[in-house]
Amino acid sequence: MDFIAQRREPSGVYVPRRAIATPLLIQRAQDSFSMTSLSTMERTTHSAIVDDRNEHIEIWINGEFFARHEAKISVFDSGFLVGDGVWEGIRLHKGKFAFLNRHLDRLYAGAAAIDLDIGLSRDELSTALNATVERNSMRDGVHVRLMVTRGNKTTPSQHPSNCAGGPNIVIIAEHKTADPEVRRNGITLFTTTVRRPGPEILDQRLNCHSKLHEVIALIQANKAGADEALMLDPTGAVATCNATNFFCVSNGKLLTSSGHYNLNGITRQVVLEVAQANGIRSGEQPFSLTDVYSSTEAFVTGTFGGLTPVVEVDGRVIGAGSEGPMTRRLRDLYESAVEADIES
Ligand SMILES: Cc1ncc(COP(=O)(O)O)c(C=O)c1O
Repeated sequence: MDFIAQRREPSGVYVPRRAIATPLLIQRAQDSFSMTSLSTMERTTHSAIVDDRNEHIEIWINGEFFARHEAKISVFDSGFLVGDGVWEGIRLHKGKFAFLNRHLDRLYAGAAAIDLDIGLSRDELSTALNATVERNSMRDGVHVRLMVTRGNKTTPSQHPSNCAGGPNIVIIAEHKTADPEVRRNGITLFTTTVRRPGPEILDQRLNCHSKLHEVIALIQANKAGADEALMLDPTGAVATCNATNFFCVSNGKLLTSSGHYNLNGITRQVVLEVAQANGIRSGEQPFSLTDVYSSTEAFVTGTFGGLTPVVEVDGRVIGAGSEGPMTRRLRDLYESAVEADIES
């Protein structure tokens, strides 16, 4: 832990420097005080246990492997220059990629939407993914980042026609296990002023390299003392979070946003499917912060962290301020769906 980024409360407990010292945060600070192997990242749904093996991973770039510190992309890469690319975060579980077909569907749909020719078939890309984890002797507790940009440009510019040659494709596979403390104690959210636009501005179903509006939202939430940002749509209804999808339980019903202003998260979709298959009332519909503040449970979803409880939104404690029974049940159902998928 970085203790410089913390301050000492009169109670003697260290809390994050910018955080408001609510009882939940103080409890969490006490918990994390005893942990020795947290990542250097601030506390988020993407906080991971530090794994020294990642120092020695090999990264796949356009068909060749490079040691981590040798893995480089041109300064003329269109992803670097203008955020022109699409990507996926995929989980390797028991040697298999969970929901690989869904990830490839989303990647190829995004590439088609931005008129980017990946240049590899789904089978070829799957072979590259498998080769990467085999090369690194990986089987479990692995998170893979697959990135495709339009390729190297002849000069820094926006125009796609300035890309010479094919796309740049990179596969980074890392030993990465979600921090159990985050799952145990949950995260806090702050509703950012940054809204999620509709497809007339930027289709939120594009998992694109341009993440600046999410980064700005996250910075605002962090400065307000929360872990991550909750984002509204242009009508003021709840849309999603900066890097995950949002759910809450209101009057016994599982609510998530309409789907028009959020990434079509694969974890989100699987949670909705298992809820429906198990008789849990759920709806993809507009709802407001009033529903959130009075909800009995809330959680966020994403491939890396699975289901992570939300214990506070804008300083309001949600439910009992800890993981609720619906979240626990849905996580179990989700994990069973992961097992079923890799066995299929
Ligand atoms: C903005 C955003 N929302 C949600 C998610 C979660 O999506 P998934 O469940 O497919 O990992 C991600 C992950 O890439 C994301 O970037």
